[in-house]
Amino acid sequence: MDERPVVFIDSGVGGLPYCGEFARILPMESIVYVADRENFPYGPKSKKELSDLLAVLVARLVVRMDPKLVVIACNTASVSALADLRAAFPNISIVGTVPAVKPAALSSKTGRIGILATERTISDQYSRHLVERFAPECAVEGIAAPELVEFVENDFIASSRAERESMASNYIERFRALGVDSLVLGCTHFLYLAEEFAKAAGGDMKVFDSRAGVAERAASLLQARGTTGERVLYVTGTRPLEESWHRFAGLFRIGSCLLLDDAR
Ligand code: DGL
Repeated sequence: MDERPVVFIDSGVGGLPYCGEFARILPMESIVYVADRENFPYGPKSKKELSDLLAVLVARLVVRMDPKLVVIACNTASVSALADLRAAFPNISIVGTVPAVKPAALSSKTGRIGILATERTISDQYSRHLVERFAPECAVEGIAAPELVEFVENDFIASSRAERESMASNYIERFRALGVDSLVLGCTHFLYLAEEFAKAAGGDMKVFDSRAGVAERAASLLQARGTTGERVLYVTGTRPLEESWHRFAGLFRIGSCLLLDDAR
């Protein structure tokens, strides 16, 4: 038995669907979700800035929570900082989240796949290497969608289904016009609109994400299991928590939602 928590990290609410999938597979694990709201959004930051700020955050969490596993539930953070984090914390298993290029390339008939992500993810060499390795025969179209990150983080809870559908179909049409028939949701925030994307894509475009793969990978690395199923969401920064945070936490059956600086 190992009651230490599995810690999930994202810039905001994006990693919660990943955490939800992990909790579905292993409901008795203790989970700490950390939304780095103080540094949101990650997408416009440089690789160096992200690597530095994540090293500081992970160091704090290691001291305070002694995690048995860390999941970077954010594509932008993973492509930018995973290698540096693994080098800085060699005794901790760190699972990253990167665009699901492989299944998208395998499924494409037109040989054109799309990646919807942040500018940072699209431009990083990690993503280029993923394409070279897993989609060498494909043409890849990347579209950066910082406004969709903001929409999910700030407006999702109050949004209507029609607003969400219009957001998703807007991007689907742009990819369709480029001849894309396999689309990768390469930002964890976009999973909140997974149903809307699938609906807009219809029968002729398939939409892929890495949620199941990341949750399974994390589960496979655990050497000993937890028994409490305790779940806490922490938010960085000092701004008081808005009601929306409690509603996001509620969506994933997370009991407490606290400011990290207030936590002991
Ligand atoms: N959720 C993050 C990702 O998967 C990015 C959001 C942000 O820009 O902060 O890339």
